Amino acid sequence: MIGVYDSGFGGLTVLRHLVGALPGRDFLYLGDNGRAPYGGRDAHTLLDFAEQCVEHLFEAGCGLVVVACHTVSCVALRHLQRRYGYPGSGRRVLGVTIPAAEAAVALTRGRIGVLATERTVRSRTFVAELAKLGHHDTVQRAAPLLAPLVEEAWEATELARGACARYLRDLEGASVIILGCTHYPLLREALEAGTGAALLDPGPAVAERLRAWLSRHPDFDAPGEGRLQLHCTGDLAHFTASAARFYGGPLPAPRHVVEAGSTLARLVLDGTPEGQVVRG
Ligand code: DGL
Repeated sequence: MIGVYDSGFGGLTVLRHLVGALPGRDFLYLGDNGRAPYGGRDAHTLLDFAEQCVEHLFEAGCGLVVVACHTVSCVALRHLQRRYGYPGSGRRVLGVTIPAAEAAVALTRGRIGVLATERTVRSRTFVAELAKLGHHDTVQRAAPLLAPLVEEAWEATELARGACARYLRDLEGASVIILGCTHYPLLREALEAGTGAALLDPGPAVAERLRAWLSRHPDFDAPGEGRLQLHCTGDLAHFTASAARFYGGPLPAPRHVVEAGSTLARLVLDGTPEGQVVRG
């Protein structure tokens, strides 16, 4: 069974591509809706949340966890990989940033724009990963209003088009814009109205990379029965009412995960870390 983790609904826009590319596999999706949005949170809180969620998926029987959330992937992936996915652990954690960066570089030699959450932009992980691929012309824009607009199901409104146009102004000159937040594929029409750049939804690239990775690492997941389970924190009725809109099709009933036993972070570092954060 493959675990897929996101801060809430947004990862369902990634899950649909994973299920499409790997129809015989079993998936367990965890949306941490009760603590979303993640995008404005500090890095150390995100590490704590990510540890709890990834552990939940491993304990539920997943051998492999895909971090579908760009914010977590940009800030905490390396930490999660060291903590859980070390050689010999029999577990792996994969993210979405590198597949997105590779897909963008395959599309253009021109300027790449990154539209994402505040924390993703401040991590500069997209800039670093694109630079590792030899691409040094990247502009970023944090768009904190966009995920709430999608949560509200306002993606087809004048308000959404106005907000998109305003953010896109700061990505002028980009020939490709990475939709670096899992909510943004739902805003494609509103975004297209505000830019001539190609909009890159990383979902298909993530799915293709996962399919290729599994064929190279068959020990981390066995072909299953095509079962899909959903777990969420937060309000179960709200999740049930909204999830299908993000997934783009019908979904099974979710199971509620109670946020019991959450503790406050024990280790607090000074300052604002940049890029990947790893702690002991
Ligand atoms: N899932 C988050 C991401 O892709 C966006 C929503 C949030 O801020 O929690 O970055």
